[in-house]
Amino acid sequence: MRRLPLLEVDHVSKRFGGIVALEAVSLNVEAGEIVGLIGPNGAGKTTAFNVITRLYTPDEGDVRFDGDSLLGTPPSAIVRRGIARTFQNVELFRGLSVIDNVRVGAHARQGEESVDDVLFYVNLHSVRHRGASELPYGTQKRVELARALASGPRLLLLDEPAGGLSHDEVERLGTFIRRLRGDFELTILLVEHHMGLVMSVADRVHVLDFGRTIAEGTPAEVQADKAVIEAYLGAPA
Ligand SMILES: Nc1ncnc2c1ncn2[C@@H]1O[C@H](COP(=O)(O)OP(=O)(O)OP(=O)(O)O)[C@@H](O)[C@H]1O
Ligand SMILES: [Mg+2]
Repeated sequence: MRRLPLLEVDHVSKRFGGIVALEAVSLNVEAGEIVGLIGPNGAGKTTAFNVITRLYTPDEGDVRFDGDSLLGTPPSAIVRRGIARTFQNVELFRGLSVIDNVRVGAHARQGEESVDDVLFYVNLHSVRHRGASELPYGTQKRVELARALASGPRLLLLDEPAGGLSHDEVERLGTFIRRLRGDFELTILLVEHHMGLVMSVADRVHVLDFGRTIAEGTPAEVQADKAVIEAYLGAPA
């Protein structure tokens, strides 16, 4: 018997007034995979994350996790289902310390012990009592990741983790994401504009343009795809 994908985005459409943010997008992620979700600005990548995490309800289609539809699950219960995310623009509790931000994530699942483990893992233990908003941007992104990890997710959604990071930080991030998958037994959906990072980290890549899927395949297949090249060069497809 074939195993179900962990995540199934099934013909999802999402419109905002006249804007079609997603048009019948289907995307499967198998357990243990790292899938890259790429596309030019406004392609619908963050909207897809917002649909998966139930911040948005699709106009059409379904999203299934581990075989069950998420459409009856409120956004507040998504973390308990085993899905955690980071945001394109870091969204921390600005008045709270690093450790209290991470505790918010852990609240959905486990006890204090895992908070400490996660803080050590992402190298934040020494700054755990600092105010989250006082820290440099790259460090704040690690706090957000720690908060996501502390909830013990099965599926981790990363929205532009390399955004705003230095060249050296991006280099390290690729290795780190692959290590994360193994150490936390994760399945990862990665939105990223940094092509070097996506192509070195992802097992498969799904490409959106103006809300539609224009290509999917291995990093090599996608990089050689004419529609993808044209979408990125801004030429008519
Ligand atoms: N809440 C909203 N209300 C109205 N329009 C929205 C909303 N969210 C997204 N959109 C529109 O939907 C389209 C897709 O936006 P989305 O943020 O998903 O793109 P993206 O692929 O994440 O882009 P970027 O790479 O710039 O982050 C855009 O035209 C955007 O303006
Ligand atoms: Mg986005």
